[in-house]
Amino acid sequence: MCLSVNYYEKMNKIGVIGATGMLGQPVVKELVKAGFEVKALVRNAEKAAKTLPAEVALIQGDLKDMTQIKAFINQIDTLYLSLSVKQASRQSHFQPEREGIQNIAKALEDHTKLKRIAYLSSLVQNYQGTNGFDWWVFAIKLQAVQIIKSLSIPSTVFYPSTFMENFTVGSYRQGNRILLAGDSAHAMYFIAAEDYGRQVAKALKLVDDQNYDFVIQGREGFNADAAAKIFVENTPKKLKINKLPFGFMKVFGSLGAKFSYGRHIIEALNNYPEAFAAEPTWEVLGEPTIDLQKFANMH
Ligand SMILES: NC(=O)c1ccc[n+]([C@@H]2O[C@H](COP(=O)([O-])OP(=O)(O)OC[C@H]3O[C@@H](n4cnc5c(N)ncnc54)[C@H](OP(=O)(O)O)[C@@H]3O)[C@@H](O)[C@H]2O)c1
Repeated sequence: MCLSVNYYEKMNKIGVIGATGMLGQPVVKELVKAGFEVKALVRNAEKAAKTLPAEVALIQGDLKDMTQIKAFINQIDTLYLSLSVKQASRQSHFQPEREGIQNIAKALEDHTKLKRIAYLSSLVQNYQGTNGFDWWVFAIKLQAVQIIKSLSIPSTVFYPSTFMENFTVGSYRQGNRILLAGDSAHAMYFIAAEDYGRQVAKALKLVDDQNYDFVIQGREGFNADAAAKIFVENTPKKLKINKLPFGFMKVFGSLGAKFSYGRHIIEALNNYPEAFAAEPTWEVLGEPTIDLQKFANMH
């Protein structure tokens, strides 16, 4: 990756879709801190106002609505997408990362003002096709990247490892317990959303027409068990680690959409051989500053 990069002198207007999400919120905070004018397309403005910084302009809207998408992208220079497949949703449902991104692509057909589109993808989606693993959720995520890269405007795609937030509000956390399942075979380079947000802010200041792919990882790699132990030993909260055999997840996985999601994501996370590949990202966007111990101390 090229080391001599230029940054916008004047901050541009960033539009965020997915600002209220687990990872949208910390990124929006960092975008505001970095001086961007941030607008968020939100489904429930009253709810969003409680979680997003006061500086963020809230625009009521939904990815299901083409008119609202068009009106939103007409007000911004850069679009940042922080979307997800909800654990309890089904393949046949409206999926923000499938129909939502298709709608954005359609809206952009007659729109020329947008300078860049940025998308939060994931590293573990690369597990698709390994050991016969085939999951519709990863297929949607892989296709989303293809659609974004086929657009006529420059793109920035972020591929993060597992976020430390999974121990606080995300999928490892169940009340006062950290819930693990099966054998976590490889190290994951856990990253704090705050560090990621700073890297996104820096990436969105790059002033050129290049397409960027950034692998987002923390400094240290741990398997799920080692990471959970560090978190539990260093958080001021009293937490316990519970571990289920993977066979248990398989049985529960047939019981409903949410369990099926859990079984698939755990299988992928446990077996994806994540290699450290963030050095080129750090050269352009800076290094993470929060290790797992520090993160745990803060939560
Ligand atoms: N967890 C990890 O460790 C990890 C690691 C790497 C990558 N990722 C990726 O990070 C992404 C984001 O995760 P997350 O946990 O932040 O997701 P999330 O909490 O579920 O947030 C999803 C966001 O999308 C918005 N949204 C949903 N449907 C919408 C629609 N029809 N129109 C407009 N907005 C809509 C939601 O708004 P509402 O508030 O209205 O529901 C919410 O703001 C996921 O794709 C995941 O794969 C996660």
